[in-house]
Amino acid sequence: MNKIDYLRISLIDRCNFRCQYCMPEGAELDYILRQELLTNEEILTLLKKVFIPLGFCKFRLTGGEPLLRPGLVNLVRDIASLPQTQDLAMTTNGFLLANMARELYNAGLRRINISLDSLNPNTFDTIIGNRGRSRWQQTWAGILAAHQVGFDPLKLNVVVIPGLNDSEVPDLAALTIDRNWHVRFIEFMPIGNNTLFSQRAWISSEQLRQQIRARWGLIESSVRGNGPADVFQIPGAKGTLGFISQMSECFCDRCNRVRLSADGWLRPCLLNETGQIDLKTALRTGISPDRLQAKVRKLLEIKPEINFQQRNSGTQTGWYSRTMSQIGG
Ligand code: GTP
Ligand code: 5AD
Ligand code: SF4
Repeated sequence: MNKIDYLRISLIDRCNFRCQYCMPEGAELDYILRQELLTNEEILTLLKKVFIPLGFCKFRLTGGEPLLRPGLVNLVRDIASLPQTQDLAMTTNGFLLANMARELYNAGLRRINISLDSLNPNTFDTIIGNRGRSRWQQTWAGILAAHQVGFDPLKLNVVVIPGLNDSEVPDLAALTIDRNWHVRFIEFMPIGNNTLFSQRAWISSEQLRQQIRARWGLIESSVRGNGPADVFQIPGAKGTLGFISQMSECFCDRCNRVRLSADGWLRPCLLNETGQIDLKTALRTGISPDRLQAKVRKLLEIKPEINFQQRNSGTQTGWYSRTMSQIGG
């Protein structure tokens, strides 16, 4: 059984993008009311009294878009300064990062993963659902700011969607030749926008690797993150290429994480809510830390039996009705 020591903490379910594969324009989502969000204090209490005593030491802040969360910098500072925190990272769309990168770094954040689905501003805007002024430039500025401030590793996430951005895979991969960046290609998952998924389907990581191999060659890298990516490198490149292949090569058997939603539900898996716990209500009704720990321990025990593959091949309906922004990327 894997050690489960990685908690992904969603800070907010709202987002300033409307990515077609996540929360497309017009999708009716019930947003979490502000008073239902876990407060910074509640998140810290859960870490100190429940998760850290159970051995958790890796934390990732996600959303929605975490940079929209009020009080974010203070929360980062508080989590980074817990002596047991071994790794604190964030996944963001990068749009607001140019002005926040320095402050976040100074607060103790060191790892950041930024979505970048295209190098072409028009394609980018199509994917993120933008109909106004292009958002590519500001997102790119956010990536450059993160690089300049010293975030290392700096990871760029690309969800590959057939017919939308798959032709850009070589250009995106080429970003790693002269830069110490990690570009990761993610197989499109049937979460959030089933219509797009059924129209476009997904491309396997192996197909992408073949394209890259044919152009430059490709070697396996010894670098490994905390996550599910298989890591490769263009020979001689400064950076690496990651492949997140949950559709073609289920990696649930090496899963090391659970997820805390912005309104305080602890979920054992991206797509499986079996045994989920409402930690917020428990906290607010004054349950003792010991009892909370016992509940969480129970969820960790059943986690290995419930995974994405079962969801993906299984028999239930409505599995993918939540978007990534609601689950917490
Ligand atoms: P590091 O390698 O530690 O940087 O983390 P990571 O790759 O897990 O983080 P990130 O938030 O960038 O996640 C990238 C993508 O991996 C997500 O967009 C998902 O597509 C996928 N992913 C992350 N966690 C899970 C998971 O628990 N299950 C599945 N099926 N996919 C996941
Ligand atoms: N399939 C794969 N990845 C997705 N993401 C959002 N929705 C999907 C999906 N349906 C990714 C984003 C971001 C991360 C938080 O989740 O691109 O990198
Ligand atoms: Fe926002 Fe991320 Fe969803 Fe795009 S994938 S809409 S950036 S939460």
